[in-house]
Parts: sequence; structure tokens; C-alpha cells
Amino acid sequence: MDRYAVIGHPIEHSKSPAIHAAFARQTRQELSYQALLAPLDGFSDTVRAFRAEGGRGANITVPFKIEACSLATRLTERAKLAGAVNTLTFNGDIIIGDNTDGIGLVRDLIVNLACPLAGRHVLLLGAGGAARGVLFPLFQTRPVTLTIANRTVEKALELRTAFAPYAGQTTLTAGGFDDLKGWEFDVVINATSASLDNRVPDLPDSIFAPNAFAYDMVYGSNSAGDTPFLAWARAMGVNQLADGFGMLVEQAAECFALWRGIRPKSGAILSKLRRKLVAEAG
Ligand code: ATR
Repeated sequence: MDRYAVIGHPIEHSKSPAIHAAFARQTRQELSYQALLAPLDGFSDTVRAFRAEGGRGANITVPFKIEACSLATRLTERAKLAGAVNTLTFNGDIIIGDNTDGIGLVRDLIVNLACPLAGRHVLLLGAGGAARGVLFPLFQTRPVTLTIANRTVEKALELRTAFAPYAGQTTLTAGGFDDLKGWEFDVVINATSASLDNRVPDLPDSIFAPNAFAYDMVYGSNSAGDTPFLAWARAMGVNQLADGFGMLVEQAAECFALWRGIRPKSGAILSKLRRKLVAEAG
């Protein structure tokens, strides 16, 4: 049986084994998918041991996504631009590093949530690894403008400089949260880690255009209800909102398709796993 794993530290709360098991059942693929805890100083040893035992591929999660870049012998364009790898595929001596987080976000927004991005004004909050990981796939959806806003302004400006060559027809701007005063956006994506600390970025309250969509890349931080960012957006009158659980399922669907050559019907599985998540949160 082909073996796959998700490798991280910590790893016990990972939803990836349940997601991939559901994909395998639906597509009638025979495979095993386990969660592997790697010691903080033992990521490459864990990968080496897993390959030696016949592992075919692995998902990589916190805190190893950057280290996984240097372990890969080949990187896809989107992984290079993300500066991080969430998917390794083992093929003889070759280790292909890919990043499906951005396409996961884009598919969740466009397909699952019917939130188009083409021709729209998009605001991306944050300039850390999570923001970097989704920029290139966001440009590929052709928003008319994409604004990066971060608490530390310099990091937003650095990201703009790095990604300007890839913006295509999208106007790319960057700045701090105060610079957002007086501007409205159709889609606001929170790629900061603030929700994980139960905080909301210090934003002007006028950033949402009428019928705006608010998306938090974090999920489930506040039972199964709104994340702090989504609760704030709701208080600002936004009624189209989503957390990042769909992104998690969609990035996994993309990995599964890469590894197995068959794309699961992720929408049905997303609804089922969401119900389970809500039930677990009580
Ligand atoms: P990740 O890999 O999750 O992106 P990261 O690279 O450490 O983690 O980046 C965290 C991001 O969340 C940064 O953009 C950070 O802003 P700073 O660059 O100013 O540190 C942002 N962030 C974290 N807590 C925040 C808060 N309370 N308010 C606003 N932004 C916050």
C-alpha cells in the first residue's frame, strides 16, 4: 500500500489524516496516510526514515515548511515564490517540493464560496509566511488591485518589491494599516496570525465595500464559531464570511490530485468534515 504522511511539530491535532482518508475512500484509492511528529532538530532525519520505509509523499506543516524548501531537490515555481513547501513527492532520488496553500485558498474562495476575485479590489492583511504563500496564486486570478497591509510596514513593502514582477495586470500596492483609511475593498483576506492570539489587527473600520467578503486563513480558533477577525468583520456589517477550513481541505485536494492523479470531489467532504469540526467543538 502506498504510504503518505503529514510531518510537523506538534502534529496530534492535524486534520490532514482524516481529510486524506476521506479522499481515498471517495476515490477508491488504496493508501495509508499518517501523522508523523518530527523532533524540532530532526526534520530531515524524519523525512529520510519515512522515505526509507517506502513513503511516497508527505505534507509538511509548522514549523518545517521553510526547511522543506532546502530538502527538496526540485521546487515548483509556486513553491519558489512562496519560499515554503507544504508538499513533498518522493520519486527515486528526486524530491519535488510544491506549495498548494495558495491554490487551496483561491479554490475555496472561487469554487466553494462563489467569491470571484477577477476584476475586484483585494486586501491581503499580513506579510509573513502565510501571506507570501498565497500571493502568486492570487495574482493568477487577476484582481484589479491587490493591497498588502501589515502592522510592520517595511515587511509589506519588501513583499511588494519581491512580488511586483509577478503582478501581471494587477495593480500591487503595500503599506501599513493606517494607510487603508478612506479605501474600500471587495475581498479582505486575513493572513496575519492575530486570530491565533485571539486578537484582531488594528484596522480602520471603513475597509469593507458594500457586499464585501471577509476571509480568515485561520480556522476554528474560537470553538467552531467566528474567528476574532470574522467576528469583527461581522460587527462592521459584513455578512459574507469564511474561515480557513475550506482552504485546508482544498490544499489537501490539490496534493491528493498531484500524488494520485485523481481529483477528489472536495465540496462534499468539506461539508462533512465541517459538521464533524463543529460537533467536536461542542
Ligand atoms: P505566518 O507564517 O503565520 O505568516 P509569521 O511569518 O510570523 O507567521 O507572520 C505573522 C504575521 O501576522 C505578520 O504579518 C505579523 O505582523 P508583523 O509583521 O507586524 O509582526 C502578523 N501579526 C501577528 N499578530 C498580529 C496582530 N496582533 N496584529 C496585527 N498583525 C499581526
